[in-house]
Amino acid sequence: MSAKTKSQNNANQASLYIGLMSGTSADGIDLALVDFAGKQPQLVASYFAPYSLAIREEITGLYVPGHNEIDRAGFLDKKLALCFSDAINDFLQQQNLSSDQIQAIGNHGQTIRHRPEGNHAFTQQIGCCQTLACDTGIRVVGQFRQKDMALGGQGAPLVPAYHQAIFQQAGSDVCVVNIGGISNISYLPGDLKRQPCGFDIGPGNALLDDWYRRHHKRCEIGIDMDGHWAATGSVNQQLLTLLKSDPYFLLPYPKSTGREYFHIDWLNAKLNAYQAGELDIAPEDIQATLVALTSQTIADTVEILSSHSDVIICGGGAKNKTLMQSLKNNLPTHRVMLSTDKGIDNDSLEAVVFAWLARQFDLRLPSNLPCVTGASRACSLGIEYFP
Ligand SMILES: Nc1ncnc2c1ncn2[C@@H]1O[C@H](COP(=O)(O)OP(=O)(O)OP(=O)(O)O)[C@@H](O)[C@H]1O
Ligand SMILES: [Mg+2]
Repeated sequence: MSAKTKSQNNANQASLYIGLMSGTSADGIDLALVDFAGKQPQLVASYFAPYSLAIREEITGLYVPGHNEIDRAGFLDKKLALCFSDAINDFLQQQNLSSDQIQAIGNHGQTIRHRPEGNHAFTQQIGCCQTLACDTGIRVVGQFRQKDMALGGQGAPLVPAYHQAIFQQAGSDVCVVNIGGISNISYLPGDLKRQPCGFDIGPGNALLDDWYRRHHKRCEIGIDMDGHWAATGSVNQQLLTLLKSDPYFLLPYPKSTGREYFHIDWLNAKLNAYQAGELDIAPEDIQATLVALTSQTIADTVEILSSHSDVIICGGGAKNKTLMQSLKNNLPTHRVMLSTDKGIDNDSLEAVVFAWLARQFDLRLPSNLPCVTGASRACSLGIEYFP
């Protein structure tokens, strides 16, 4: 895959921000150029720079504890900053913009560990903000999750505040479901007096990618495109029940999770437990069962929150046709749609959120929702780094 750009309209240079997201799927860098001059943020252009297989493996190799991980994380922190700045410099060149026309970059970075529970909760995003600022000549706002966590919150998810700003509608419930590596939901009640909520549901594409790659080692792209392989398998109900019985799914919110938990080792442990007394299952049946796990855990969550809602799907999972069909089947009383059906570009939505978070930081406005993250108060998130 090569870098991809989409352009939508002309830019107002006094209020331009770039949002940068590198998600838990480690598929690549999403950039969004956003203009905040109007009432609603306007996506001007977006860009995607895929990671090489080598970088993807360096990232995923840090999801669980391993040998020499401080050095590996330190080197990758700098290496990713260079990938980020290369992507931004290419993007600016394509857009005929210079660094001084951008107010700031909102850099999520790459999460390599997220442990929101316990006395010493922490979350770690790499892709050095200071290096990025120096290499692009643009001020960077990053480390958005730290303050929410310092205030006792999960530091995640951060997208519900933005979802609320653009998707909430009086009189009818909306669930925005982002299916990235992990899937998360923002529930926006139609009764505007009620508080929204949001949390990580569980695995989105993460285990689908892991299992697919294990069985398609030579496939550079490493994705079950459109869910074709999963569609050739059948769901194993017994295994599905076992996977769904994991305690994470039963935890009350606020809650968040990451790749250190929903990892191939998690699946291996479940398969070992299942196969202790059973016959082997075909690999494609396991892929079909993992699609059902993502779909059913999302559907169960939506049903608990609302009996009728607009369910807006975004993130890479929206492109998995098998998964989307399964979601529609599991949510017969809801209107399941894509964010593009609401006029919002699916691929860059998360990156837009990080541009918005940088903007909120500059305006000193709050950007966390304590009812979502569990933080003791609302606050403006982020730390600023100058070139
Ligand atoms: N055409 C496709 N068919 C099937 N799956 C796809 C397709 N395109 C993308 N995906 C899935 O989407 C994933 C990438 O989604 P996305 O970029 O939203 O996740 P992410 O980077 O983990 O972001 P985050 O977790 O922060 O939301 C890929 O790893 C893949 O599993
Ligand atoms: Mg991604």
